[in-house]
Amino acid sequence: MSKVKVAVIGCGTIANSAHIPSYLGCPDAEIKYFCDIIPERAEAAVAKYGCGKAVVDYKEVLADPEIEAISVCTPNKMHSIITCDALRAGKHVLCEKPAARTLPEVIKMQEAQHETGKTLNIGVVNRFNDGVNHIKRIIDSGELGEIYSVYVSFRAHRSIPGIGGAFTTKEIAGGGALIDWGVHYLDIVMYCTGDPAPRTVSAEAFCKLGKDIANYNYTYMWAENTRDVNGTYDVDDSVVGIVRTEGPTITFNGAWAQNIGENEQYIDFMGTKGGIRLYYGKHFEMWSTKDGMLTKTSFEYNSKNHFQTEINAFINCVKTGEKAPSHIDTNIITAKILQGVYDSSEAHREIEIN
Ligand SMILES: NC(=O)c1ccc[n+]([C@@H]2O[C@H](COP(=O)([O-])OP(=O)(O)OC[C@H]3O[C@@H](n4cnc5c(N)ncnc54)[C@H](O)[C@@H]3O)[C@@H](O)[C@H]2O)c1
Repeated sequence: MSKVKVAVIGCGTIANSAHIPSYLGCPDAEIKYFCDIIPERAEAAVAKYGCGKAVVDYKEVLADPEIEAISVCTPNKMHSIITCDALRAGKHVLCEKPAARTLPEVIKMQEAQHETGKTLNIGVVNRFNDGVNHIKRIIDSGELGEIYSVYVSFRAHRSIPGIGGAFTTKEIAGGGALIDWGVHYLDIVMYCTGDPAPRTVSAEAFCKLGKDIANYNYTYMWAENTRDVNGTYDVDDSVVGIVRTEGPTITFNGAWAQNIGENEQYIDFMGTKGGIRLYYGKHFEMWSTKDGMLTKTSFEYNSKNHFQTEINAFINCVKTGEKAPSHIDTNIITAKILQGVYDSSEAHREIEIN
């Protein structure tokens, strides 16, 4: 069977660290285009990886009938537009997380997927993580009993990315700590607990520590190359909230930046028979009882590269039409929660989610 011909739209950090190497590592895929509005980035990819053609306009890629699938690795502002155009041009799409800036944009993506029947997966890569899948199997088996409550912490001391740049500009990113980090954590919770429908949200999002861009102190800044002291900072750098679902109640506390020196990044699944703490991106621990005694089990494992697994799963969807766990139909649930958090914060009250 011939290889699936793909194009990578947006040749920045995530494209170079995850999508491109994973396509190169997938025996069933072949990269034909690198596309970036900054021509040097697309050209650098051609030179570095020794394949494909460099282009600046994604519509050139969509006009090529040979291209079957694309990765959308642009800033969030372009996710919905490029994805909808690509689906309607007959291409399968893997779009980076968050699906888009707002729920209405995500709904447009889902409508385009339903209309065309092409694959649309979102880059919620933890659904392809071995540890996360292990936890899901434990929860599904009933070993923890009923999961009635989940606490999510995605807090860091000073970790605002590229302050003043695309990540901190609402018009481009749609939001800050919640939409950039929280999206991964909430997605893990939804996945492991069976994607329960959300009912209500009460939340507050704060734009505090990064507002004075010039005087923001930090020791390390990721996406530093997009930093701009004269730029915009109008997104949440911390957020707290509670989400009631048809399954567990989820409480969360997230911060790109806070005046507490600890980085606390974990998810606690509280069940009637046992509980699990997942250290984000790392191992997990389980508390339970056996023969009348309390037990604690630490799970150590060697995880496969989840980006490679995600890309392999996407190419499999393209070839077989199978639905992956990261399909837009499941991702829309998290998109509703994200929108609910921002709406609740703006209204300063609890809101219902339909
Ligand atoms: N899955 C993850 O864990 C993860 C990690 C990092 C980033 N991301 C997501 O990936 C996306 C990109 O983030 P990044 O850190 O790589 O950003 P980046 O700024 O490093 O790269 C984005 C690239 O897209 C290009 N671009 C912008 N508009 C374009 C257009 N219309 N056509 C073609 N190219 C265009 C930019 O020039 C830039 O080179 C974001 O949505 C981000 O949330 C996901």
